[in-house]
Amino acid sequence: MRVLVTGGAGYIGSHTLLELMAQGHEVCVVDNFSNSSPVVLDRVRSLSNGTVISVEADIRDRAALDDVMDSFAPEAVIHFAGLKAVGESAVKPIDYYDVNITGTLCLLAAMDRVGCTRIIFSSSATVYGEPVYLPYDEAHPLAPTSVYGRTKLMAEEIMTDWTSARPEASAVLLRYFNPVGAHPSAQIGEDPSDIPNNLMPFIAQVAVGKRPHLSIFGDDYDTPDGTGLRDYIHVIDLARAHVAALDYAARTTGARPFNIGTGQSYSVRDMVAAFARAAGRDIPVQIAPRRAGDIAAMQADATRAATELGWRATHDLDDMTASTWAWQSANLDGYGTH
Ligand code: NAD
Ligand code: WQD
Repeated sequence: MRVLVTGGAGYIGSHTLLELMAQGHEVCVVDNFSNSSPVVLDRVRSLSNGTVISVEADIRDRAALDDVMDSFAPEAVIHFAGLKAVGESAVKPIDYYDVNITGTLCLLAAMDRVGCTRIIFSSSATVYGEPVYLPYDEAHPLAPTSVYGRTKLMAEEIMTDWTSARPEASAVLLRYFNPVGAHPSAQIGEDPSDIPNNLMPFIAQVAVGKRPHLSIFGDDYDTPDGTGLRDYIHVIDLARAHVAALDYAARTTGARPFNIGTGQSYSVRDMVAAFARAAGRDIPVQIAPRRAGDIAAMQADATRAATELGWRATHDLDDMTASTWAWQSANLDGYGTH
């Protein structure tokens, strides 16, 4: 299939490009490189030995999107482009609504213009909010607690309304849990432009000596070791979920959400211990106060993805930490572009 990938130079997008090309799909990336670099796409090209068409453009640029739709004529779109920092979304809500909502509207309008009827969307487990029960299944109440989470829920609703108006259209809403890990080549990985917000890239930077210690945000949660529990998912498994979602979109219509997680959860201390094992060195930690807005535990019920997409995670915690360590230790400054 010809697949247009918005945000394809980003962390999850770049890994997904490689999985798509490995399955014979043709790809075209639209990215404004606001949180990535064209260097990433050069690495994807050399790893895949394939063609990655790339267009530097903002997804809110309607004329640029129309040009790409006309020239590439995609049969499906995977929509990664967006802003993703929960804390920042409280400080810059208009930017978040503009990129994540206006951007989605521009994209759907451009798809409509050329009759493209399949979209795979990067949603997030954060649409659920405070757990009423765990593991979350897709029927769990939706009550996001951040601006970021609300943009993801609104975008899901917009795509659902779009499919209601277009009986032939399909929107696959992938609710990612906590993506971590890197490509086995150690040439592609997560490269935060600033101090990492997320646990795994922070631990990785401590392990290579770029930061003195990890602050554990709270050890007094109602969890077995007092630290937060999350469902970490290897980025390669996540990338493969998009390939499965493309096949699903080709044989179904309507909008459907899917949890993309492993169904297992690990604590902050588990992650630190696993990383120390992978790296063969200690990870210094300090206990810090809880981070505002954090919840104690999150875990996916990923049964629906297994049953309907035919997808399940195959990488374990050691794969996640070992691949992150391999990437970070081989690329001390990530792509070296910040
Ligand atoms: P990322 O920042 O690495 O990738 C996003 C890409 O989109 C970047 O290359 C960025 O330059 C591009 N982009 C941003 N705004 C754009 C715009 N206006 N026009 C064109 N391109 C633009 O993030 P990621 O971790 O790869 O996440 C991809 C998607 O998955 C995002 O939508 C994110 O919200 C969602 N998601 C991420 C996580 C996570 O923890 N990483 C979890 C759940 C959902
Ligand atoms: C994991 C655990 C922290 C950093 C966020 C978004 C979510 C999704 C993924 C996009 C928690 C603890 C973290 C640190 C720590 N993104 N921690 N010290 O908060 O589950 O999810 O990223 O959709 O929407 O909310 O992920 O990696 O930030 O935190 O102790 O320096 O690690 O408290 O328990 P989170 P995270």
